[in-house]
Amino acid sequence: MLYKLLFILTLLTIGSTTNNEEEATVETVSDENEESRNYVNNDEDQAEKEGRKARLLYSYRPYPMIDIMLQTAAPNYVPKHPNDIFDFLRDSFPLPGGLQAPYEEYDYIIVGAGSAGSALAMRLSEDKNVTVLLLEAGKPEMLLTDIPAMAPYFQSTDYTWQYYMEPQPGVCTGMLNGRCFWPRGKAVGGTSVINYMIYTRGRPQDWDRIAADGNYGWSYKDVLYYYMKSEKASLGGYEKTPFRSRDGVVPVEFVPKRTKLIKAFLDAGEILGHPTVDYNSPHELGFGYVQATTIYGHRCSAAKAFLHKHKKRRNLHILPESTVTKVLIDPQTNTAYGVNYVRKRLKSTVRARKEVILSAGPIASPQLLMLSGVGPKEHLESVGIPVIKDLPVGKTLYDHICFPGLIFELNTTGVSFNEGKALNLREAITWLRNGETDLSSPGGVEGIGYIKTPISDDPEPVPDIELISIGGSIIADGGPDGSRAVRRGMRIREDVFDGAFGEIDRISKDTWSTFPMLLHPKSVGRIELKDSNPFSHPLMYGNYLTDPKDVATFIAAFRHVQALVATPPFQRFGAKLHRAEYPLCRSMVFDSDEYWECALRTLTATLHHQIATCRMGPVGDPLAVVDPELRVHGVQRLRVVDSSVLPRTVSAHTHAPAMMIGEKAADLIKWTWNVVNKI
Ligand SMILES: Cc1cc2nc3c(=O)[nH]c(=O)nc-3n(C[C@H](O)[C@H](O)[C@H](O)COP(=O)(O)OP(=O)(O)OC[C@H]3O[C@@H](n4cnc5c(N)ncnc54)[C@H](O)[C@@H]3O)c2cc1C
Ligand SMILES: *[C@@H]1O[C@H](CO)[C@@H](O)[C@H](O)[C@H]1NC(C)=O
Ligand SMILES: *[C@@H]1O[C@H](CO)[C@@H](O)[C@H](O)[C@H]1NC(C)=O
Repeated sequence: MLYKLLFILTLLTIGSTTNNEEEATVETVSDENEESRNYVNNDEDQAEKEGRKARLLYSYRPYPMIDIMLQTAAPNYVPKHPNDIFDFLRDSFPLPGGLQAPYEEYDYIIVGAGSAGSALAMRLSEDKNVTVLLLEAGKPEMLLTDIPAMAPYFQSTDYTWQYYMEPQPGVCTGMLNGRCFWPRGKAVGGTSVINYMIYTRGRPQDWDRIAADGNYGWSYKDVLYYYMKSEKASLGGYEKTPFRSRDGVVPVEFVPKRTKLIKAFLDAGEILGHPTVDYNSPHELGFGYVQATTIYGHRCSAAKAFLHKHKKRRNLHILPESTVTKVLIDPQTNTAYGVNYVRKRLKSTVRARKEVILSAGPIASPQLLMLSGVGPKEHLESVGIPVIKDLPVGKTLYDHICFPGLIFELNTTGVSFNEGKALNLREAITWLRNGETDLSSPGGVEGIGYIKTPISDDPEPVPDIELISIGGSIIADGGPDGSRAVRRGMRIREDVFDGAFGEIDRISKDTWSTFPMLLHPKSVGRIELKDSNPFSHPLMYGNYLTDPKDVATFIAAFRHVQALVATPPFQRFGAKLHRAEYPLCRSMVFDSDEYWECALRTLTATLHHQIATCRMGPVGDPLAVVDPELRVHGVQRLRVVDSSVLPRTVSAHTHAPAMMIGEKAADLIKWTWNVVNKI
């Protein structure tokens, strides 16, 4: 209880202090430099400590009072890691049975405790006769990460891999240094510790098409079984339908607190022919209240859902802060037999009796494969890595981009979410008690709507745009002196942001906005190594908007949103499109197609659903890295189990699909080693 009290104090401070320290982020927070230094030279202890301290201070820089409060209020607190003042709020995963060190050999080694890796580790270790080691580069989560409204804050802390896309012409022009920010979670729980908690599964056709490519076992019917296996839904009745479940471990619920604007969104949708439905239903396309992986308004990460209860399992060893640097593969037999990893600046090797499984996510899994000699031959040779298997690792990358600047001003006050109002003592206490406050809102997201624009030539009812309804907008992040965590989280340049939205009264003005998200981009990106140092960030190219159809689809979506807002449910609020000015778009007529394309190229934001970098496909598929049972083609005892295997775009955010992949992989692996009979 003392801790919770402290935490409330912390929140209060967040709400009331100002932040002058702006874009220093980019330099200070790079894990790349610091870790590679450690890797090269283990003696630089002091430098490391200072780096840590600088990062930590930076991370919470807007709230300098936190340090002082935590230290005065918890006099008995002895930090385990020097300088890590948050340690006492953090979860922990000690080795079971008082074990001091991990074994030298396990049946399975899983790299990465993210959405997929957590599910996989829990299921594999159900069999008491096998041993499982789960290696995770990040730390366990902590109380503050449980607050849905704080999601954007963690993008600037060491719970995040601070990746940036390479600068590419004509996109992300309004972002810092012209680069899109590609954060990934670095925690036990992975990206599900910092994400927006939206639960979506994709349309049946998405999965049936994946199966039709030769990926046996991945049809909608097949994957539905695994979605339902994890799910514990409580959705006002939806959970009773045959495609939802109440028996799993991942809670799925509605957000407990809503503004009146979500009703306007749903009503406007109905008027334009979009019924209000369970948007995860395979039968209907429409709009609906957002479904979130939270429990009573508290974040439930994959680690909370799958690992927390099983900390004492003798056969499951979880090692946080352990970064894998290489998969060991015998070049004679092309068989994986272990991994190298770095923990507390010490290098170790651990061996796998049965399999090594990469669940390091769509950036790090392909990176690790390439570092280990599995990847495009010419590329590996160019960075001096001996080639074990020539495969198109990283050659395909799809992502979901969105536009956050479609903002409507309302003539009311006090209706929309405003961070400045949310972060206060009363709200914090209510949140702790039953979650029914603005703090339970995942970044203001209230609803989701699937639409199919006239640009789509898909013969089936597959949407090309998802509309994410926000009970506010990106301007509402804390008032003129506030944290501005959303803008900072997206790495939008301050001058661009102020030029576009500065006139809106951020405290008293209500706004509504929707992020249109492009579900099936035609543009294809890629990822490659920068060099052979495992701590270097790979080079990432989204190639966003290189296909003109992607731009056309966005513009069609903007027009549809304008039609939605013209209906009575929104006009009751006097909703009016905000006229944003962007530096490169000044010569264009406001609201012309040309203007919107320019705006989109200025605020090109991603929702971080990178996939396909270790693409799945049957033998003979020239783009495939893993087979339909997720085994790396041409390498024995090595699988990839995470969102990177998805071979095609799906009409979904990727957390639920990643957990599903983990669930399914557990069965595939058990079948391989004959632990259970095939269902
Ligand atoms: C800001 C943000 C918001 C998002 N919002 C949503 C949302 O609302 N809904 C949704 O469905 N999806 C959302 N997503 C996407 C979704 O969370 C991810 O697609 C999903 O979590 C990916 O799961 P994964 O298992 O593939 O990888 P991850 O969850 O990223 O797990 C990979 C893990 O591997 C670890 N790792 C990496 N390299 C190493 C190494 N060398 N050694 C050891 N460990 C390593 C990482 O630290 C990480 O913990 C969001 C993503 C972001 C970044
Ligand atoms: C348990 O595992 C060992 C070694 O992997 C094996 O020899 C033994 O048969 C297994 N026992 C059961 C009950 O599966
Ligand atoms: C907002 O505008 C609408 C439409 O013009 C009007 O009906 C409504 O009364 C206005 N509300 C307020 C609070 O001014």
